[in-house]
Order: sequence, then C-alpha cells, then structure tokens
Amino acid sequence: MTEETSSGGLDRRSFLVLGAAATGGAVLATGVAEAGEERKKKPAKPANPFSMGVASGDPTSTSVILWTRLAPKPLELDGGMGKRGNQEVAYEIATDAKFSKVVQKGVVDAPAEYGHSVHLDAQGLTPNTEYFYRFKYGKFVTEAARTHTAPEVGQSVDSFVFGQTSCANWQSGYYQLYDDLAAQEPDYWLALGDYIYEYGNYNPKTEEGYVRSDGKALRPIPWGLEPVTLAEYRRQYGLYRSDASLQKLHRTAPYSVIWDDHEVDNNFTAGKSGGDGQADRIEFAKRRAAGFQAFYENHAIRIPAPGQMPSKMDIYRRVDWGSLASFLLLDGRQYRTDQAGDDTPQDFGKLADGMFAADGTILGADQEAWLAAEFKDAPGTWTFIAQQVVMSHINGSAAFDDPSILELTAKGLFNYDAWDGYWNARTRLINSIKAGQVRNPIVLTGDFHTNLAFDLLDAWPDPRDAKTPAEMSAAVKNWKGNIIGTEICAGAISSPTFFGEGLLGTVAPGVLKNTPWIRYAEWFNNGYVLNTVTPQELKATYRVAMTNFKANTPKGKPRSETTLVIKDGVPGISSPLKQ
Ligand SMILES: [Fe+2]
Repeated sequence: MTEETSSGGLDRRSFLVLGAAATGGAVLATGVAEAGEERKKKPAKPANPFSMGVASGDPTSTSVILWTRLAPKPLELDGGMGKRGNQEVAYEIATDAKFSKVVQKGVVDAPAEYGHSVHLDAQGLTPNTEYFYRFKYGKFVTEAARTHTAPEVGQSVDSFVFGQTSCANWQSGYYQLYDDLAAQEPDYWLALGDYIYEYGNYNPKTEEGYVRSDGKALRPIPWGLEPVTLAEYRRQYGLYRSDASLQKLHRTAPYSVIWDDHEVDNNFTAGKSGGDGQADRIEFAKRRAAGFQAFYENHAIRIPAPGQMPSKMDIYRRVDWGSLASFLLLDGRQYRTDQAGDDTPQDFGKLADGMFAADGTILGADQEAWLAAEFKDAPGTWTFIAQQVVMSHINGSAAFDDPSILELTAKGLFNYDAWDGYWNARTRLINSIKAGQVRNPIVLTGDFHTNLAFDLLDAWPDPRDAKTPAEMSAAVKNWKGNIIGTEICAGAISSPTFFGEGLLGTVAPGVLKNTPWIRYAEWFNNGYVLNTVTPQELKATYRVAMTNFKANTPKGKPRSETTLVIKDGVPGISSPLKQ
C-alpha cells in the first residue's frame, strides 16, 4: 500500500498531491469532482483532516512506520470522510525540522477500507538517526514530527531513554503525564495497553457507561454506549487521539503499542467479552474483530494489514535497540483462557481452582513457543518483556497483620485477571526465561494503575498449601525465593488508582509491608516510568501526579517520586529499599 519515490524524484501522483498542497487550491488531492460537488452543497471551510495527529512506531535500524489518519470530523462515525473512496497523502522525511534536507518524499495510500489510515513503512534510513516527517493532504500540512531509528545490533550505544505508559481513561483524568513524557524527549516509548477505554459516557437512563464514585466523569464522552462496531471504535480513537498532549508525545518520539482488554472490552478473553454489565449488542466475535481492526488503523504498528474484520490479528513482535535492549512485545489478551471465578468485572476474589487449571494460558501455545525462541535469540543486554498484567504474585492475605479479617472473603484476595489467575502458565513462562538464559530479564507491566516494582522470583508460595489466611500470610512473609529478574509496573496515565481511596486503599500498605518481593509501591498517584538504559545499569524513574487534577495544581503537577537502580548481571532491584 506504500508507494515511494527515489530521493528527490517525483512521480505523477506526488506531483498532483504536492501541487495541490502548494497552491492550496484543492480541498482534496484526489477525487476533485467529488470534492467539487461537495463544495456546492457545503460551502463551509474544510476541517483539518489531520485532527488525530501523526505518529511513528516500531523502529528498526533502517525503517520506521509513519502513521496518520484522515478524519476531519473525528467525533463522527465516518470521521467526516463520508463515502469518499481511497485517498492519497503526500509525505516528506528530512533530517532537520525545517525540512531543508529532505531525504525521502512521495505519496502513500490512505485506503477507505482502513478508515483512511496511513501506514508508511519508511525504509532505507540510517541507523541510530533522528528524522523529521510530515504529511500533506490538500492544503493541510502536519506539524513537523520527530522520530528516530534504532541502532544496528553491534553498534555501541552509551544510553537510551524510553517511557513506559498504560491505562489512559479519557473520562477520569487529564493527560499531563503524556505532556511530561514528551518534555523528557525520550528516544522511544511503550504503550502497554488501555491506550483507549471502550467506555461510553454514563447514561443514567440505561445505567450504561463509565461513572466515578461521585457520579460524574471528569471529561465526558459525547456518546453513552460502548463501541461495538468498527465505526464506533474508530470514533473512540478519534476522541482519544484528538488530545493535544497525546499528539505532542507522538510528535516527539517513536513508540510501540500492545493492546490490553479495554481496546475491545473490559477483561475479555479468547472466547468472550468481560461481561461488564452492558448487554451485548452484537456477537462478541464480531465486536472483537471491530476492535482489532480499529487498533490497527489507529496505530503506527509494524504488522501486515489485516484482513477486514479479522477474527485474529497477531501483534506480538520484537523491537531491538542495538545490542543494548530487546523488547519482546506480548499479547496477553486474545489467546487467553477465561479467568477463574465468576465472570468479570470481578477482578479480585478468593482462592479458586480455576487459577490452577492445567490448560490455563495467557499467551497461547504459539506465542509461548515464539517467546521461548526469542529468549534465546534476543541480542539485547537488557531483555524487556513488555506485557499487560502483573506477573509477580500478590497475595491479599499478607495485607493484614491480623489476617483473620480475610475469613470474610474466604481465603485471600487474588487478581484473577493477572498472572496470579494463570498459575501454571506463569510457571511455564518463568521456566522459559530460565531455559533461555536470558540476561537481565525485565518484565514491564501496565494494567494495575499502581506504581510498583518487584524482584521477579522463580517461584512463589502456593496458597493451596495453607489451611487458613494466617498460614498463607506467614508463608508470604517468610518466603525466600530466587530472584531472577525485575518487574516494573507503571501507574496509570489517567485511570483511577485502585488503592488510593476506599477499602482497597487499606489493603495496599499491608501488602507492601508484608510481601518481601515487592520493593516499591506508590498507590495514590497516577504515573508512568522513565527508563534510562546503559550497558551497566537500568534506572527506572517513577514520574507521578494525580491526573484528576490539572497540571497547574499542586496535586496535578508531575514530579519524580523515586528512581530504582537495576545493575547488569544482578537480578532484582539494587536500590532503594522499600518506601
Ligand atoms: Fe487499565
């Protein structure tokens, strides 16, 4: 779908598109007759088709995916594109922000069947180099955006910096942490899922949609129902990507994205939706296909264009940053077996047999096999296992000095949706890390809306071995596991913190105090992690703010909360101690 010209040359399509941009005489680069007819009916000034901004993603040493999507009215189901067919968008890539040194230009297709999205695989670039790019369509030109190629494997790199984000619920917070990450000018960043939430706005008549405990959404969404069709998911991205802070971050650095549940539906699994109270308006398989296609259309992701409404879309992949870091980007959603316990949205519950199901899986057999091979091949000094849900064991029995209180909830408090709910799958993964002799395995996690760090162990106390919560709690407190790596869990960009308020807020301090492998926890604030990687060490800086307050307020202003140090060849966190 990409058409490139040689450096400095112009083919006929490029001439047409760039010519239209230069004269400003045409609203649309192609389909002039169609545009002309529309002008007769609607003399209004045309809206900016780049309302969703631009992005670059999945860099290699010689290429990067450049993305945009034509949507002059992003909050309408058709993005404002009506019945327009395939479009063409011009692009330029330069080594300077003023585009005086253009190295590539041409036109690229924006197919109607993919929501007029552009996925340009810009190839032939120089390793470890900064580039700037922009798109043109009619008279509209995007702001200069920065991207960066990865170093070649073997090329020595002193350091690089990447951001780690997740969970950006539009309705519950502002995006000052995206702004803050942009201000750090990272080389690269990761979105570990819940980049969008599927929630519609609260509708008191139908009791559907998202609502805070005080009954209000901080930033309302103009529709009540959750998306289930492709057009509705596209519109959801149209809203999220209209945010200026998010657009700025995308103009600053390349990223890689994986999905979690909210890209489709809360706590969905291979076979079913999360059952979060809203009546299923269409068959789940169709809904999931719509969510998957919209994900592809709205991200700068290096995967083949999927078939229309794909029943399956493989997104697990590897990104290398020279010999310094390898990122194994996982899909912990579409292949997983159902959670233990009752149907969601109940994430937490008592000890359940389903947690230990022999056939329980998060990654599925194919991805597990792929990952095992990658563990042996990945060239990075640091191997980042970038995935969705908390991997380390968290046992609610350790929350209370007097664990008899947990008799109220039977035995323990477990997160079925995380790796704790897939006990045997986790054991297989840990064994795979060990078999691959992975140097410096670092698990990167989102989902949990809490700023957390763990020493990654090779085994945890089996809660089935305890007869009472008190025994379970004692087993946790006295556990001495082998540390094989580190888990870094980023807080939420804007989603509500689970533990800041209410009952769970009383649980968190006890869990932290009584669980030896949790090395750091901060549960009141939103956050993201800024990781600085060198051959000698990894520094994880937790940047936090309460994003239900604006950035210009004391609570809402981003700040560094702590920096953890992990040393090459020394599994686990070297400093600091618990806070
Ligand atoms: Fe989330």
